[in-house]
Amino acid sequence: KSSLEDTLISAIRNIPDYPKPGIMFRDITTLLGNARAYRRAIDELVHPYAGSKIDKIAGIEARGFILGGAMAHQLSSGFIPIRKKGKLPHETVRVAYSLEYGLDEMEMHKDAVVPGEKVILVDDLIATGGTAEGAVKLLRQMGADIVAACFVIDLPELGGRAKLEALDVPVRTLVAFEGH
Ligand code: PRP
Ligand code: MG
Repeated sequence: KSSLEDTLISAIRNIPDYPKPGIMFRDITTLLGNARAYRRAIDELVHPYAGSKIDKIAGIEARGFILGGAMAHQLSSGFIPIRKKGKLPHETVRVAYSLEYGLDEMEMHKDAVVPGEKVILVDDLIATGGTAEGAVKLLRQMGADIVAACFVIDLPELGGRAKLEALDVPVRTLVAFEGH
């Protein structure tokens, strides 16, 4: 493993049986609290796009906001919050999605994207890809050109990367964990 992967993996806390038995929760709060690991993660997420024009970063509530805000600042891009239903005050588009352990709906403001804008989607983790797939649908519905979807953590066995790639979304992840 690279030194970056070592740094990130050792900064992520593993919590067994959370939020339910059999799930190993990958907790990035320890990574966020580690100044060096947080900076290295953000630098790695943005470096392929340095010098190219990215109009907006779309972050998925809640941990995608923390990563996406820092990425937007670094790339001089705008930020789009994709939120759980009922949180956004203006007119929205809404999509139902399934995730690793449940079903929910998310929303985005209709005027968050100007058709043709280049957008990077970000979240902390991709598991089944249901959450990210929902976000891709919302962004494309409003005419976004999705340049990539980025995640700190990949759980490859759950197939999320393949699901997004089948939608022609390039996927970038920084570290992978086997098992759920
Ligand atoms: C977790 C994680 C991703 C999603 C990934 O979020 O932060 O957003 O699950 O799962 P999927 O690829 O199977 O869809 P969670 O729904 O727990 O919400 P939170 O980020 O608001 O805590
Ligand atoms: Mg999440």
